[in-house]
Amino acid sequence: MADEDTTQAKDFQADVPAPNDPFFLKGSNNLDWGLKNRLANIFDPSSGRTVMLAFDHGYFLGPTSGLERVDLDIVPLTPYADTLMLTRGILRTVIPPTYTRGIVLRASGGPSILRELSDEQLAVSIEEAVRLNVAALAVQVFIGSEHETQSIHNMTRLVDLGNQYGIATLAVTAVGKEMARTPQYFRLATRMCAELGATYIKTYYVEDEFETVTAGCPVPIVIAGGKKIPELDALELAYKAVQEGAAGVDMGRNIFQADHPVAMIQAVRKVVHEDVKPAEAFELYQTLGREG
Ligand code: 5RP
Repeated sequence: MADEDTTQAKDFQADVPAPNDPFFLKGSNNLDWGLKNRLANIFDPSSGRTVMLAFDHGYFLGPTSGLERVDLDIVPLTPYADTLMLTRGILRTVIPPTYTRGIVLRASGGPSILRELSDEQLAVSIEEAVRLNVAALAVQVFIGSEHETQSIHNMTRLVDLGNQYGIATLAVTAVGKEMARTPQYFRLATRMCAELGATYIKTYYVEDEFETVTAGCPVPIVIAGGKKIPELDALELAYKAVQEGAAGVDMGRNIFQADHPVAMIQAVRKVVHEDVKPAEAFELYQTLGREG
């Protein structure tokens, strides 16, 4: 029976207003609860940033260097990542289902490295994404390429489907032969993706004016690591990117192709989440690497 004794004092703390805090991520305040909850499983709410570990390269490159055995090379890195970016094939076959952080699933594909890469189509259904309990779907967008409109259409379709189910869309701005790596290009590409609905965007760091890329984009930006460079340089890249407005990194080769991948991902975390200077993070990398 319900408690009907209204004479008994109850403490509703009526003078304390209910919290009405803004969501911690740029441009994400008006998203639905499920989407925000998934984003909080990609980005760390305490720093507002993320270290995404990207190892989806096999979807067009095959078993590239460092990814020959994902079970042996990558699984030991996963406890240090805020989220994993990968394909459904690797997710199902290699990643233990006990992994509880966000999964960012590669959702576009088609051409291999042997063909015209911009000719991608959507490669995963939304039902499959729900079944795999993913936090975001990643789609490549090839602004300025032969298949620009097709890739934009892939993204907008994914945004519509993702919004229906509360799954984020990560637009990945591709670079190719005909696409100049300039601030102007990245301002154009990232802004187009945001305007057309992407929840967050992955792009490349550019020297000079990168802060205009992040400032002009109303949703969070993460940067790709790109080709392997010396470890200290990769830490400097990550540092400059977050200091100039990026909400983290989506780094692959510069982690899994490092001499000491487990040490490298921990050093990257220091730079991204704690604003530790690259030289200090590099020392940590060397120490952890020696202890290896
Ligand atoms: C492939 C991707 C990769 O995930 C991306 O390039 C990140 O990896 P890396 O740091 O090695 O560049 O999106 O299209």
